[in-house]
Amino acid sequence: MTFTNTRVKLASRPVGLPQPANLDIETIEMPPLTEGQVLVKLNFISLDPAMRGWMNEGKSYIRPIQLGEVFRAGSAGQVVESQNPAFAVGDYVTGNLGVQQYAVVGAGATDPSSPEYLLKVDTSIAPLEAYLATLGMPGLTAYFGLLDTGQPKEGETVVVSGAAGAVGSVVGQIAKLKGCHVVGIAGDQAKVDYCVNELGFDACINYKTEDVNKALRAACPKGIDVYFDNVGGEILDVALAQLRFKARVVICGAISQYNNTTPVKGPSNYLSLLVNRARMEGIIVFDNAANYGTAAREMAGWIHEGKLRSPKVHVEHGIENFLPALLKLFSGENFGKLVLAP
Ligand SMILES: NC(=O)c1ccc[n+]([C@@H]2O[C@H](COP(=O)([O-])OP(=O)(O)OC[C@H]3O[C@@H](n4cnc5c(N)ncnc54)[C@H](OP(=O)(O)O)[C@@H]3O)[C@@H](O)[C@H]2O)c1
Repeated sequence: MTFTNTRVKLASRPVGLPQPANLDIETIEMPPLTEGQVLVKLNFISLDPAMRGWMNEGKSYIRPIQLGEVFRAGSAGQVVESQNPAFAVGDYVTGNLGVQQYAVVGAGATDPSSPEYLLKVDTSIAPLEAYLATLGMPGLTAYFGLLDTGQPKEGETVVVSGAAGAVGSVVGQIAKLKGCHVVGIAGDQAKVDYCVNELGFDACINYKTEDVNKALRAACPKGIDVYFDNVGGEILDVALAQLRFKARVVICGAISQYNNTTPVKGPSNYLSLLVNRARMEGIIVFDNAANYGTAAREMAGWIHEGKLRSPKVHVEHGIENFLPALLKLFSGENFGKLVLAP
C-alpha cells in the first residue's frame, strides 16, 4: 500500500511570534519500508510551548531544529506497516515522530536510548492522547519538578502558575495529594473555576483581572513554601517577594518570555532568596528519563484510584493548522493539554 504524507518543516527562524512564512508544508509519497522499519500513522501531535524555543538558533538544553528539517514533536499513533518483528500492525506507540501525518522509524525503535525509540502504550489503561498529557511529558515534568525539586511537605503552601495547563494542572493536584495548601494562577475565569471546583485547588487567582500581589497575600497568609513557575516575568517577581523561610522555586518554564523581541529581564525581587535562605532551581524533564516508567505507573495508579483527574485534552484538527494551533498556547486559548490531530 502507498501512503501520502503531509509534513511541516522549519523554513526560517522567527523573530517574535512565529509566522506562516517560517514554515514549509509539503506533501510526499512515502517510500516502501525496508527491513527493520516501522510506519506509524500519527493520531495526535503534542503542541508544546518549548517548540517556540526550538525554532531559535543558539545554545539550549536541546539542539535547535535545523532549517529544512521536519518540525520536532512528541506524538502518539498506530503502527500501520511493520518490517520490524518487535512491532505489529495495530500497536499504539508514542515517540519523537515530528509534525507530520506518517513517520518511518528505523532500527532505533527498540532502543530506549535512541531518539527513534517507540514506546508501546496500552490504550485499555488510558486513551492514547493521555500518553501525551498526564502520562506523558507534561505530567512527568510536573511529577519530577514538584516532588524532586519542589519537595512539598504536608501543610506547606504550594503556588503554581499556568495552573490550568498540561503541567500546572498536574502540579496542583499532586501537591493536594501531598496534603498542601494549593493556590493556582491562571488567565481565564473558566480555568480558575476548573482549578478550584474540579481539580480541588484551595484557591486560584485570575492574573488578568486581579491584583496578583494582593490576591496571593490573601490566598497564602503564611507565605509561599513552593512556587512552581511556568510563566516567568512579572508573576515570578511577585511570587518571589512572598517566599517563606527555606522556600523552593521551581523554574519549569517562562512562557511569558518566549516570543520576546528584547532580552529576557531577570526578576528584580531575587534578593528574597537571600533573605529567606530560599533556592531557585531550573528543571528539564528529560533528565529523569530513567525513571519515567515508575512515575507514569504511579500516576496511572492515582488516576485509577480517582486521586488524579484524567487529563483535560484540547484537540485541534488538520496538519495545515499546526501554526494557528501552536499559537493558542501563547494567547491562552488552549484549555488543557494541546494536541493536533493531523
Ligand atoms: N522544563 C521542562 O522540562 C518543561 C517541560 C514541559 C513544559 N515546560 C514548560 O511548562 C510551561 C507550561 O507548559 P504546558 O505544556 O503545560 O502549557 P499549558 O499551560 O498547557 O499552555 C500554556 C498556557 O500558558 C499560559 N500563558 C500564555 N502566555 C502567558 C503569559 N504571557 N503570562 C502568563 N501565562 C501565559 C496560558 O494560560 P492562561 O490562560 O492561564 O494565561 C496558556 O494556556 C511552559 O513554560 C513550558 O515551556 C517545561
